[in-house]
Amino acid sequence: MTGKGQEEKPQSYEHVFYSYTANLSQLEDENRILRETLATMKDELDRLRRPPLMVCDVKDIYGKHAIVRIPNGNLFYVNISSECEPLVPGDSVLAEQKNLTVLKKIDSSKTFDVERFVIIEKPQVGWEQVGGLGNQIREIQEVIELPLKKPQLFKDIGISPPKGVLLYGPPGTGKTLLAKAVAASTQSTFIQVVGSELVQKFIGEGSKLVKEIFDLARERAPTIIFIDELDAIAATRVDVGTSGEREVQRTFMQLLAEIDGFKPLDNVKIIGCTNRKEILDQAVVRPGRLDRLIKVELPDAVARKEILKIHAGGMRSKNLDLDALTKKTEHFSGAELRAVCTEAGYFAIRQNKKYVVQQDFLDAIIKVKKEEALGGKDYLNMFG
Ligand SMILES: Nc1ncnc2c1ncn2[C@@H]1O[C@H](COP(=O)(O)OP(=O)(O)OP(=O)(O)O)[C@@H](O)[C@H]1O
Ligand SMILES: [Mg+2]
Repeated sequence: MTGKGQEEKPQSYEHVFYSYTANLSQLEDENRILRETLATMKDELDRLRRPPLMVCDVKDIYGKHAIVRIPNGNLFYVNISSECEPLVPGDSVLAEQKNLTVLKKIDSSKTFDVERFVIIEKPQVGWEQVGGLGNQIREIQEVIELPLKKPQLFKDIGISPPKGVLLYGPPGTGKTLLAKAVAASTQSTFIQVVGSELVQKFIGEGSKLVKEIFDLARERAPTIIFIDELDAIAATRVDVGTSGEREVQRTFMQLLAEIDGFKPLDNVKIIGCTNRKEILDQAVVRPGRLDRLIKVELPDAVARKEILKIHAGGMRSKNLDLDALTKKTEHFSGAELRAVCTEAGYFAIRQNKKYVVQQDFLDAIIKVKKEEALGGKDYLNMFG
């Protein structure tokens, strides 16, 4: 027993000693961590207390001073901090709100998050989803698909493929669909811009946005830039007197400059789209710009049947006579034919049927025709 006790004593001293030192170093560690946390929290607090900086554009430089434009458009003559790197007009900078001293230059692409304002996608539309439009498909394949897929062909022969095309024709005829299909077939990024939004939503920023869109397109190449309602920015203007008109003009000029700025084989293609080709400014369709014009018309009987087949194809139906439906849908656009199919489905659902029959389609045709007669464009807008 005693032997055991004698053995225990030095062991327990050691034990106590080691446990103290271990404890000490653990406490020291904890202390260090707490100090570090305190320091970061102090930093964070300082950061939160600091007033936000303002993003401005530099208009002009005068030695240690600059004229900057603040976001509301007003111009100010301000100091440039000695720590700020050299600036040139056009730079984006951060300035203190209180005395507007320019503190820092920033990457201009960070000031405008273009990806928030345009639709960017990789469409999955196959050519087989486009009814009729055989000629248009062939043409768009030649002008957009071939140069993107086989640029060497063009290099070898020594010609420049068009930079873009203009699709024009009545609403709902499949222009957007065509553009998406060619983006899908070339696995391109599809950037969709709407002309009217460009000038209405982004007042004062339209031309900047155009520039950023093209930068983004190059970054994500191969890319198809799809400009819907091109006429909203590219219409001939009789009077550019008002500031709104001048803004549209600036946006348009920027668009032309961007189109001219990239090379035909840059893997960026532009597809412009309009229902009103006659009002377009000729500058946009000049050689070297959107110089291939592709007309997309209302579908003829053969095309209507194909479109009906596409949209009714996925529906559960019994004894459909597509030829009869084709005859009854003269002057219908692709979008309206799609609406007919959807409506026919609704008629069947309302009657608790599990499938659609010819009569549902006939009723749907009458309904869509009526809507059209009332001037309701809802069917066209329904599918974008
Ligand atoms: N040729 C077609 N083949 C199959 N579906 C079509 C066709 N045309 C139109 N559609 C259907 O109608 C929808 C709307 O068509 P789309 O948006 O392509 O028309 P659009 O010509 O771009 O019209 P808008 O000039 O009004 O923009 C398509 O998503 C598609 O479902
Ligand atoms: Mg469209």
